[in-house]
Amino acid sequence: MALHAVEFPPATHDFQTFLGQAEPNMQVVLHGYIGQRADLSKKLSFVRLTDPTMKYSIQVVAFGKNDATEKLKSLNAHSPVAVRGKVQKKKGKNTDAGDKPAEEKWELALEDVHPLNDFPKDIIMTPETVFAPEHRYLQLRSDAELRDALQFRAEVRNECKKELENCQPPFVEIETPLLFKSTPEGAREFLVPTRRAGLAYALPQSPQQYKQILMASGIPRYFQFARCFRDEDLRADRQPEFTQLDLEMSFATGEDVMRTIEGVVRRLWANLMQDPAPEGPFRRRSYQEVMAKYGSDKPDTRYGMELMRLDHLLPADLVMKISPLENPIVEAFKLESQNNDPAATLKFIGQFLDSPAGAPFNNNPDGGPGVFVYNGKQPLCGLQPFGFEAAEQIEELLEPDHGDLIIIQARPRAPFAGGATPVGDLRRALHGHAVSAGFSPSPTGFDFMWVVDFPLFSPSSDSEPGQGGAAGFSSTHHPFTAPKTAADVDMLLADPTKVVADHYDLVVNGVELGGGSRRIHDAAVQEFILRDILQMKPERLVDFEHLLDALRAGCPPHAGLALGFDRLVAVLLGKESVRDVIAFPKTGKGGDDAMVRAPSPMTEEALETYHLRLRK
Ligand code: AMO
Repeated sequence: MALHAVEFPPATHDFQTFLGQAEPNMQVVLHGYIGQRADLSKKLSFVRLTDPTMKYSIQVVAFGKNDATEKLKSLNAHSPVAVRGKVQKKKGKNTDAGDKPAEEKWELALEDVHPLNDFPKDIIMTPETVFAPEHRYLQLRSDAELRDALQFRAEVRNECKKELENCQPPFVEIETPLLFKSTPEGAREFLVPTRRAGLAYALPQSPQQYKQILMASGIPRYFQFARCFRDEDLRADRQPEFTQLDLEMSFATGEDVMRTIEGVVRRLWANLMQDPAPEGPFRRRSYQEVMAKYGSDKPDTRYGMELMRLDHLLPADLVMKISPLENPIVEAFKLESQNNDPAATLKFIGQFLDSPAGAPFNNNPDGGPGVFVYNGKQPLCGLQPFGFEAAEQIEELLEPDHGDLIIIQARPRAPFAGGATPVGDLRRALHGHAVSAGFSPSPTGFDFMWVVDFPLFSPSSDSEPGQGGAAGFSSTHHPFTAPKTAADVDMLLADPTKVVADHYDLVVNGVELGGGSRRIHDAAVQEFILRDILQMKPERLVDFEHLLDALRAGCPPHAGLALGFDRLVAVLLGKESVRDVIAFPKTGKGGDDAMVRAPSPMTEEALETYHLRLRK
C-alpha cells in the first residue's frame, strides 16, 4: 500500500495571484491536479498543472534525469500534487505577445513534486466520459458547468440575503427545527422514529408553522434558507429534500410580501444576469384566467398558443367523434408552422402522438385530441369537419395561416380544479416537443407574473394526503391561508368550494417559483376551518394546538411566501432539472441517493432500538 505524505508544502500562491505576479526565477509551490504527461525524450517531459478550482492551469517542464522527474513519471493524470518549481518564460512562438493569457506566457521548471494521492488507472476521465449517479464526485469533478452551478447557487443565496437584510426593518435569518412533528399540513412527511417507544418526529415539509409562531413571538420579519422534506415522487422540478427561501412578515399583507419578493428578483437579475431586470410590479392574473387561457396555473406565457372555447360553435356529430362526454367543454389552440408546409405539420403531429410523450393524451378517457392542419389548398382549408359556419368563426378566432396546426380537446363541464387541465398539459408538452424537434423556435426571456385568487379548497385526491378531513376537499395550498375578502369569509358557511384564497404564486416561464399567502391570524377562524370546514378528526386537530395557542396569544396579522430555491437557481441558469443545481441530488424514481445508497435497509438492531417491527 502506497502511503502518501501526511505533510506537504503549503502553496506559496493561489493560481490567480500567481499568474498576476509571475516573473522569471520566482520560486513557487503550487497545488493542483496534474494532467496527461507528454515525454518528448528521456530527459524532457511536459505536464499541465490545473489549480484546485480547475479554472487555471500552467505548464510544468521536467528536464534532466533526477528524482523529481522520476516521481513525476510515476504519477497518473488527475492525481493531486504539490509542485515546487522555478518560473520561466515559456519558450516558443508568440509567447511574448501582449494578448496571450498569463497561463500561456509562463511555465514552471520542475524542482520537486509531492504526490498527495493517486488517481487510479481504472477510472477513465475524458471530456466525453459520462459518470453514473453512483459516482457523483466524478460527475462534479469532470463537469465544470456543474461546479459553476454550485458556485452560482452560493452567489444567488448571498444576493437574496443582502436584499432581505437591507430592507427596513430588516429580515432576520432564523433557523427553525428539523426535528418537528407530524401535522396534516398537506404533503406526505418523512417520520424519524426515536428510542422512546412509539414516539417519532417528522421532518418539516416547510417551516410554515414555526415561522407563523415567530410572528406571534415579536419577530417582525423572518427569513431562512430552509431544508424541506416531502415524501413525494421525484420529477425534474421536485426533490424529496429541497431548499426554500422562506420568509414571513408581521403587520403585513400579501401586497407587502409580493413587493419584497419583486425586490429580490430584481436584484438577482440586475446583479447576476445578462437579461434586463424585470421592470415595474409583476402583472397579476387570476387562477380562473390562466386556467381558461393556458389550462395551467403556472403557464409559460411566452409562446402564445392560448386556448379558446369552441363548444358553442361545434356541430354535435364532431363533438361525439372527439369525446364520449355528454355536453363537454371543448377548447382549441393553434401551433404556428414556421415554413407553412401542411405536410411537415402533419408529420410533426403524427410523430408526437405516436411517441411515448403523446400516449397520455391519446389515452385520455374523455377523448383524445382532435387534430386539424390548416391548408389553403383544401376545401374549407381543412376545417371541413367543423361545417361551413363554425369553420368561418374558427378562422376568425384563431387566425390560422397555411400549415398551422389546430388542436381541439374536450373536458367535462366542471369548475377548474388542480394545477392543469389535459389540454393545458398537451399545450405544454406539444410546445416542448416542437422546440426540441426544431418545429418551433425556443422562447427567450423571462416573463414573471403573480397568479392570484386560487380557490381556498380543492377536491381531495388520492395522490395528496391533504388534511385528511371528512369534507371531501382539502386546502389548495395549506390550511393556514386566509380567505381573500370579508365576502369570502361569509362564503365559508354557504359554499366553501367557492371561497377565494389570499394566496399568490410567483410564476415564470412555466415554472412555479414560489407561493405564499396572507395567513389566518385569528385562532377562532383557524380552528373553525380545521374543525368545521375541513372536518378534521379531533385527534388530528390537536396536532395544531401549538399554532392555535400562539395565534390566541395576540398574534399580529402576517403574510409570507417561500421561493423554491433549487428551482430559482435552475431558472436563472436555464437548467431543465433542479438536479443540475444541487450538489447531491436524489435520483431514480424512489428518491434514492445512488452514491451513498440511501435509503438503506433497517437492521434488526435498529428496529430493536426504535421499538419497530416490520409488517410482513
Ligand atoms: P409550497 O408548498 O408552494 O409552499 O412550496 C414553496 C415552493 O417550494 C418549491 N417546492 C419544491 N421544490 C423542489 N422540490 C419539491 N418537492 C418542492 N415542493 C415545493 C416550489 C414551491 O413554489 N409553506 C408554504 C409557503 C408559504 O405559504 O409561505 C410552502 O411550502 O417552488
